[in-house]
Amino acid sequence: EDPRVRDIKTKIRVIPNFPKPGIMFQDITTLLLDPKAFKDTIDLFVERYKNRNISVVASIEARGFIFGPPIALAIGAKFVPLRKPRKLPGEVISEEYVLEYGKDCLEMHVGAVETGERALVVDDLVATGGTLSAAMNLLERAGAEVVECACVIELPDLKGRERLKGKPLFVLVESH
Ligand code: PRP
Ligand code: MG
Repeated sequence: EDPRVRDIKTKIRVIPNFPKPGIMFQDITTLLLDPKAFKDTIDLFVERYKNRNISVVASIEARGFIFGPPIALAIGAKFVPLRKPRKLPGEVISEEYVLEYGKDCLEMHVGAVETGERALVVDDLVATGGTLSAAMNLLERAGAEVVECACVIELPDLKGRERLKGKPLFVLVESH
């Protein structure tokens, strides 16, 4: 294991019973407080994706916006924000996804991505995989090819990977 990954793991704070009893919240704000660990996180993604011909990095509001833009800048790709409903002002396409209780929805601007573009989807964490699969659906509906999804943390017990229809998922840290 890369020593940088080991260090990153130690910088993620786990807060029990947030936001509700039984949930072990993976808090990446403590990782952001350490400039070296934050930079290492971005560098590890950049090393993986810099020569993969990726033209667009798409991230999911809100926590995905912390990690996606620096990766996009470093690999020379454009950045596309995927947002919660009624935040984007232009014409959008929407994708609903199922949460533990109820539904949520992600939107993307029409025209942000062109047919044939190679996309990387970045978020902080994959739990059930619902958010990432909605993000991938948006990009694929716009004609892009999703090369990979990349997250800092995976909660493997929730089996999010199985929801990603075999799309490659790369994570730095696994949390149980
Ligand atoms: C969290 C996290 C991921 C998503 C993962 O976001 O940042 O985006 O949940 O869960 P899933 O794999 O089960 O879909 P959340 O919707 O809590 O909002 P935030 O990023 O705005 O904090
Ligand atoms: Mg999120």
